[in-house]
Amino acid sequence: MLLLLLLFCFRKLSDKISNTCKDRDMHHEAISADQPFAFNCTNPPLTYGEVNVVWYDAASKAPISKDNQSRIHQEHTWILILPLKLEDSGIYLCVIKNANNCVRIWMNLTVFEKHWCDNSRRSLPNLSDDYQQILRTGPSDSLTCHLYFPETCVLGPIMWYKDCKEITETRFVPVEMKLVVYDVSAEDSGSYACAAELTHAGRAYRVLNSINVTGRVGNERRIPKIIYPKNNSIEVQLGSTLIVDCNITDSKDNTNLRCWRVNSTLVDTYYSESKRIREGIETNVSFPEHIFYTVNITFLEVKMEDYGLPFMCHAGVSTAYFMLTLPAPDFRAYLIGGLIALAVVVTSVLCIYNYFKIDIVLWYRSAFSSTKAMEDGKLYDAYVLYPKPQKESQRHDVDTLVLKLLPEVLERQCRYKLFIFGRDEFPGQAVAHVIDENIKLCRRLILIIVPESPSFGLLKNMSEEQIAVYNALIQLGMKVILIELEKIEDYTTMPESIQYMRQKHGAIQWTGDLTESSQCAKTKFWKRVRYHMPPKRFPPSSSPAAEARTLQFPSRQMETKMGLISC
Ligand SMILES: *[C@@H]1O[C@H](CO)[C@@H](O)[C@H](O)[C@H]1NC(C)=O
Ligand SMILES: *[C@@H]1O[C@H](CO)[C@@H](O)[C@H](O)[C@H]1NC(C)=O
Ligand SMILES: *[C@@H]1O[C@H](CO)[C@@H](O)[C@H](O)[C@H]1NC(C)=O
Ligand SMILES: *[C@@H]1O[C@H](CO)[C@@H](O)[C@H](O)[C@H]1NC(C)=O
Ligand SMILES: *[C@@H]1O[C@H](CO)[C@@H](O)[C@H](O)[C@H]1NC(C)=O
Ligand SMILES: *[C@@H]1O[C@H](CO)[C@@H](O)[C@H](O)[C@H]1NC(C)=O
Ligand SMILES: *[C@@H]1O[C@H](CO)[C@@H](O)[C@H](O)[C@H]1NC(C)=O
Ligand SMILES: *[C@@H]1O[C@H](CO)[C@@H](O)[C@H](O)[C@H]1NC(C)=O
Ligand SMILES: *[C@@H]1O[C@H](CO)[C@@H](O)[C@H](O)[C@H]1NC(C)=O
Ligand SMILES: *[C@@H]1O[C@H](CO)[C@@H](O)[C@H](O)[C@H]1NC(C)=O
Repeated sequence: MLLLLLLFCFRKLSDKISNTCKDRDMHHEAISADQPFAFNCTNPPLTYGEVNVVWYDAASKAPISKDNQSRIHQEHTWILILPLKLEDSGIYLCVIKNANNCVRIWMNLTVFEKHWCDNSRRSLPNLSDDYQQILRTGPSDSLTCHLYFPETCVLGPIMWYKDCKEITETRFVPVEMKLVVYDVSAEDSGSYACAAELTHAGRAYRVLNSINVTGRVGNERRIPKIIYPKNNSIEVQLGSTLIVDCNITDSKDNTNLRCWRVNSTLVDTYYSESKRIREGIETNVSFPEHIFYTVNITFLEVKMEDYGLPFMCHAGVSTAYFMLTLPAPDFRAYLIGGLIALAVVVTSVLCIYNYFKIDIVLWYRSAFSSTKAMEDGKLYDAYVLYPKPQKESQRHDVDTLVLKLLPEVLERQCRYKLFIFGRDEFPGQAVAHVIDENIKLCRRLILIIVPESPSFGLLKNMSEEQIAVYNALIQLGMKVILIELEKIEDYTTMPESIQYMRQKHGAIQWTGDLTESSQCAKTKFWKRVRYHMPPKRFPPSSSPAAEARTLQFPSRQMETKMGLISC
């Protein structure tokens, strides 16, 4: 409350201080009667922020009415007389006030009678409301119609007259408040007029400017120079905001019109509905020799239809355009995308390879097997080592696998050569000798393991010689193929070396029926065994019997597709 009171006191005080108003020079306005008149009270530094503008009739010291139905009234900062009468001549005063300043603007209004195109009836010969304008001979120039009214006054299209006749020649092109004249010659000087219908509060009036045009010889330097744009393209993202300047240098006394056009239409007209693209307000900077103009064009949102359309900046006869293009695709995005695609391809290839590894390797071996014998000095492809379990059933299974199925598949079908202890040593040979002889002649060690009761370890079921073989082979660094006859739950009962091998290379678990007499080399189990066996050194066997078996037991899609896999 106290604060408000203080504020109020301060306002009063400051009003008192600023009571002394500064006077500005008198404006002289001479207008012929019977037409609307408007004058805007502006004083640039003061027009910003909160201002209070009051118009007075200086003679009566009475404020001008603010009733918009009144013939003479104030509208915002404007004094409006609709229409002028001869007795309106006189001095008018406008007081502009804000919190700290006060300015008084004086206007001497002289209304005279003049009948357009009837000079004889001029009442005040010395006075003329003619605007003096110059047309320079050359490719083009323009005249300006000075019609400035508040927004409540709606102006109709501007008509142009020369020597009291409406202009119809196509050299003359009306553009908003201007008349562009092409191919200007000396004959174009004379008495012009521009007229328009003005509507205010439902009533129509006619406004008319007389323009006395004198010709002048133009020169080449007057052709405005558009510094930017340069018929260039601009990369811009769809949907973004864009502001482009048109920068122009022109001579000091030019009357050129500067604007932005698209498809020969002013942008403000072309986009009059959406107002998405607008022309900015022209600004200028004076230099001793020339004037530098900037007029911008603002895209609130760039749309697809804007691309490839020339946006033209016009300055008199000069034109230059720019076009919008979509930005070049981001090279980094492409690179990242490419790398991701590559990674996906590589991982899927690896996955596929892992999944079909065995088939691929076996197919490769069969397709590109060398018919030459391997010259590594070895006689056997594998040394088969197996336990003699205590349990009768287990022992029977092991014997079936080792003595029947392994020879059937690996030796007969795939033509590998195995050394099976207990089958291949010559009778009567010293065991130690057999071992010594044959160890070095094998490429792989096939080790059959069966689950054991903890008290009997794997090695307990082997003869001492077998253990020696096993150790020797391991020491030689020979590749081992572990075959589990049954699922082994507890590996801790196995020797450490076997635990290690199982961890490192895994084991192949027997799948299939031990009682089945016919085994096929193309079942999953045998493929895995073959995969770990050395590449074969003999041409693939393709006995009709083997082919028949393939047809009988199509095991995998992959295989049937390739149709090539054999041992
Ligand atoms: C009239 O003057 C006011 C300030 O008094 C200004 O804001 C406005 O732009 C002027 N109008 C025209 C059309 O010049
Ligand atoms: C106003 O203009 C008229 C005509 O131009 C002139 O006769 C008169 O002296 C002027 N009044 C003032 C106060 O300047
Ligand atoms: C009025 O016209 C006379 C000649 O017609 C001229 O000498 C005088 O300067 C003019 N006065 C004004 C204020 O234009
Ligand atoms: C135009 O103005 C010039 C001087 O400024 C004058 O000599 C000429 O008579 C005027 N012409 C018309 C048609 O008013
Ligand atoms: C005139 O003023 C009244 C209120 O003062 C307003 O409602 C009306 O719209 C105005 N008319 C015009 C044409 O400005
Ligand atoms: C145009 O001129 C303005 C100065 O008025 C400058 O800031 C801008 O960079 C110029 N634009 C171009 C495209 O030259
Ligand atoms: C450009 O204007 C011409 C006629 O002035 C019109 O036929 C054409 O459709 C316009 N093109 C666009 C893209 O607006
Ligand atoms: C564009 O013109 C407007 C005036 O119409 C101005 O306010 C704005 O600052 C201009 N923008 C640039 C980037 O020059
Ligand atoms: C330069 O701009 C000012 C307002 O910004 C304007 O009054 C003046 O007429 C302009 N000058 C030219 C030569 O266009
Ligand atoms: C730009 O194009 C316009 C019209 O297409 C042409 O008149 C002008 O000479 C061109 N400017 C440049 C620098 O190429």
